[in-house]
Amino acid sequence: KMSKEQGYDVITYLADIGQDEDFEVARKKAEKLGAKKVYIEDLRKEFVQDFIWPAVQANAVYEDRYLLGTSIARPCIARRQVEIARKEGAEYISHGATGKGNDQIRFELSCYALYPEVKVIAPWRIPEFYNRFKGRIDLMEFAKKYDIPVPVTPKAPWSMDANLMHISYESGILENPKSHAPADLYLMTKSPKDSPDTSDELELEFQSGVPVKVTNTKDNTSKSSPLEIYSYLNEIGKHGVGRIDIVENRFIGMKSRGIYETPGGTILLSAHLDIETFTMDKEVRRIKQGLSVRFSELVYNGFWYSPECDYVRHCIAKSQENVDGKVQLSVFKGQVYILGRESPKSLYNEDLVRYVQAQTQRVMYEFSSAHALSWPCAQLLQPKTHLSDF
Ligand code: ARG
Ligand code: SIN
Repeated sequence: KMSKEQGYDVITYLADIGQDEDFEVARKKAEKLGAKKVYIEDLRKEFVQDFIWPAVQANAVYEDRYLLGTSIARPCIARRQVEIARKEGAEYISHGATGKGNDQIRFELSCYALYPEVKVIAPWRIPEFYNRFKGRIDLMEFAKKYDIPVPVTPKAPWSMDANLMHISYESGILENPKSHAPADLYLMTKSPKDSPDTSDELELEFQSGVPVKVTNTKDNTSKSSPLEIYSYLNEIGKHGVGRIDIVENRFIGMKSRGIYETPGGTILLSAHLDIETFTMDKEVRRIKQGLSVRFSELVYNGFWYSPECDYVRHCIAKSQENVDGKVQLSVFKGQVYILGRESPKSLYNEDLVRYVQAQTQRVMYEFSSAHALSWPCAQLLQPKTHLSDF
């Protein structure tokens, strides 16, 4: 509205990345406020394929717990925003993220990486703007004056960011790190204590570390498109899977308390870790584990489109070449229980496990500890049971 007052053409853009939102209401609101054009873009499929799947391949987790549901959505949103800005010949891009958070950085680094000539306007960092709106009341008054529809009932006393992958809850009453999340905060999952008394059993199939099929082995439901797989796993999250409450380190150097629920992503992380260990060379896995931490930090910090993140993503993709197979698991009362796995690329040697005596394994270990059992060990495994045989 302020930019319109200043004589700029405003084009609005809203990405559908699976949040529960009335897009038509949003469209009408933008039109009413005088937007020259209104873009509402369904990005759900590309969000899963281009952003969630690489995170699954990476086992991406920030500070040991956060599955990055907000962080990976930002480069997805920004990519389309830049496409539209370029198409429309827009010189400026704006966003509503605050000046204290990570999101401003993620949006801006993504925009500048993909559209270096553009200038970003961040109202919450412009004194004229933040001095005018000190709090909710100022905003409500402005809305009233300009006839901008805002929800009459105050929203929950915390801030939410929702998409297909997760919902995050921050600020407001959650800012006190000691105060517990109210039971009715969670919108995607049920508390384990209210969750079903029978488990769901799933088989998840992976190809190159990417989920290609999920089957519920109890009722034979089966899904195989990325969006359907992911949405189905979220449904299974009704068992209360994937809730965390953490104090994390923001990029800008402050700690912040967040509560997240990532049902589908949590199931996938367990399953992927399992099939990966089963099929990946031991030493490759060690290196990849380090890359996973780097990747997670880069993504958290907004560097999705940086050369280093691109490089790490390629390395991770390379590590996934043999990560094929199926994992069976059960989901029950907030937990994912792995039941079994199978793979045409398995590096697990059942004969070795079954027949080789303890003494031999010790020798094996000493001679091959630097290598995965898969690689030079075929030779080592010939019936040489004494050190002198080598
Ligand atoms: N702290 C999380 C992150 O930085 C969640 C941010 C939520 N964003 C929001 N606009 N409410 O990824
Ligand atoms: C915001 O400040 O806009 C939300 C929180 C964050 O970006 O970290």
